[in-house]
Amino acid sequence: MSRVEKQLEEQRVSNQSGLPHFDSFRGHREQQTRLISASQRLGGDRLCVLGAGNAYDLELEELLTRFAEVHLVDVDAEALSRARARVPEGPRARLFAHAPVDLSGMFEHLERWGRMQVTPEELMKAPAAGAKRIAVALPGPFDVVASTCLLTQLQLTLLQSLGDRHQLFLALREFLTLTHLRTLAALTKPGGDALLITDLCESAAFPPGKGRNEAELPALMNGLVAAGHVIHSSHPDVIRLALGDDPVLSRSFGPARLSAPWIWQNGPKLRFLVYGFTLPRL
Ligand SMILES: C[S@@+](CC[C@H](N)C(=O)[O-])C[C@H]1O[C@@H](n2cnc3c(N)ncnc32)[C@H](O)[C@@H]1O
Repeated sequence: MSRVEKQLEEQRVSNQSGLPHFDSFRGHREQQTRLISASQRLGGDRLCVLGAGNAYDLELEELLTRFAEVHLVDVDAEALSRARARVPEGPRARLFAHAPVDLSGMFEHLERWGRMQVTPEELMKAPAAGAKRIAVALPGPFDVVASTCLLTQLQLTLLQSLGDRHQLFLALREFLTLTHLRTLAALTKPGGDALLITDLCESAAFPPGKGRNEAELPALMNGLVAAGHVIHSSHPDVIRLALGDDPVLSRSFGPARLSAPWIWQNGPKLRFLVYGFTLPRL
């Protein structure tokens, strides 16, 4: 098994180990479902969720009353089957699972690239090629496309597979985010919304005593972002920079809207600060 395959297997193990914690996800589930529902600008009726996993972060039945079709995508087919099984048979017919799909658009090449068997041309074309490969594997375009705490997991696989001292690491870290944003653009119908929801940092990064009071969370987020105590790829300025610099993205999306942050209680111990960008597809 290659290092990348081992990391993707780790993702499946992690989904398994989250299974006892449905109740702890409640607040996160409500926030995320609300944000997705608020994105339904044109009464559009097809939703696609990237990195859906166990879908403990989605009120699936509620979303199925709002959307005619809900499409879940993940590398972990078993997690998506479990998610579908939670929904009663009637609405389940409109809940579609797409797995295994590698949403990085590049991990199939990573072992080879890690050995430097790659040309600059292949690297430069990787974000466009990766986004296209993902888009043709799915029945898009969709009215709303939500990426649900997937970006950091993609970045984690890159880090664990290549290591941050590899000479291509910094370039591939940016290309991976670019591929993900291009994927959102490719899958979202003009006039619809893409939603990039991402975990910003673990509660270990919070100043002592902070993070319990919901009203304080925007100030907490601002402080952590200003101090740089957040996951690099989730930093709102890093994402804004990619959106503004890339010609395809700047043509595809109108001004990004930042949501208020919230806390994702993931089991008894783990807590993350999470926020979302709504990206209106032009
Ligand atoms: C942090 S979890 C998101 C939580 C999940 N929505 C839930 O409630 O269970 C990230 C999800 O991304 C999936 N994932 C990680 N790497 C992936 C990849 N390369 N392609 C597709 N899905 C991936 C994992 O299998 C996992 O389900």
